[in-house]
Amino acid sequence: MKRPVAYVAGTGRGIPAKVMTNHDFAAIGIETDHAWIVERTGIVERHVGGPDETTMSMAATASRAAMRRAGVSPGEIDAIILSTATPDRLLPATAVDLQAELGASRAAAFDISAACTGWVYAMTIAEGLISSGVIETALVVGAEKMSAIVDWQDRATCVLFGDGAGATVVKRAVTDGRGVLSAYIRSDGTLAELLWRPSGGAKLPYTQAVLDDRSTYVKMAGREVFKHAVRSMADACDRALDAARLTGQDIDIPIPHQANVRIIEATAKHAGIPMTKVYVNVDRYGNTSSASIPIALDEAIELGRVKDGTTALVVAFGAGFTWGSMVIRF
Ligand code: ACO
Repeated sequence: MKRPVAYVAGTGRGIPAKVMTNHDFAAIGIETDHAWIVERTGIVERHVGGPDETTMSMAATASRAAMRRAGVSPGEIDAIILSTATPDRLLPATAVDLQAELGASRAAAFDISAACTGWVYAMTIAEGLISSGVIETALVVGAEKMSAIVDWQDRATCVLFGDGAGATVVKRAVTDGRGVLSAYIRSDGTLAELLWRPSGGAKLPYTQAVLDDRSTYVKMAGREVFKHAVRSMADACDRALDAARLTGQDIDIPIPHQANVRIIEATAKHAGIPMTKVYVNVDRYGNTSSASIPIALDEAIELGRVKDGTTALVVAFGAGFTWGSMVIRF
């Protein structure tokens, strides 16, 4: 008997209106320059949410668009799986606020925390719930207000990130051939302190001392992260391709996590895929963490670069460290 698979029925994105270019950092006292950022990362600009643009509100905009494209009403959603490193509050989950906002009253709603790999993790969970028969329809969201957790006094990190949300409606496959063909997820918690927020949780709660030493903000060992990202994303490509019994040549479009164009180029080279095939939008968004792949996928669909029959390879790496990949046929 054939195992049912999950397929992507619709996508959407929710992006704050305000754009911050590399030139705008000077106005907030950050000593950097456009050429340095572009050469090191490929980033030209990013979107930054205003006070009323929350992780949930961006997620809601993305989710409504995804449900509209999928032809699915809120009442048909069985599970809302929201990946975020920037929940609107710590308890309860941002996913339940999204459920209330959408009126998805039948859904189980929960957040997952796997940093930039979060959407790949969330999709893997959704695929498992669907293929095992527990649910039929999932709303998988990556939503991030990174501007709320970066240190706006640290030029080595604040220039890298942006805000936004991407949503995906995932349903049980009704035809053969399309759907999630393979999935691969991994972590290495021994390296957690290379990219982290040291305080502000239950172990080191908010006190004047942690506010003063700025340890509630994102800290990153950039060079180390870069090395591990290149290595792990290469590994993840191999694993997802092997599991789907495909090679790089079978992939129509790789949609990698958008952190840094040099990491993307190294990953494509490893997989033997020309950069002309790779979807890149890091120049316009910066690193939106777990929102980056669903935003890119939504754009690629809108541009006609992903259509029926397209085989996509998604691959991500992030804090944890976490990494993962997926081959999806549309
Ligand atoms: N503008 C100008 N100069 C800067 C800036 C800036 N924004 N930031 C740092 N510098 C300076 C440093 O102070 C340093 O100066 P010094 O040599 O006088 O001390 C110099 O530039 C070199 O700094 P490095 O950190 O060694 O620069 P590097 O070439 O490694 O580039 C970068 C830094 C872009 C962060 C790179 O390491 C990187 O991309 N790492 C991956 C990080 C990443 O993508 N993280 C996202 C989360 S994980 C993920 O999503 C994959």
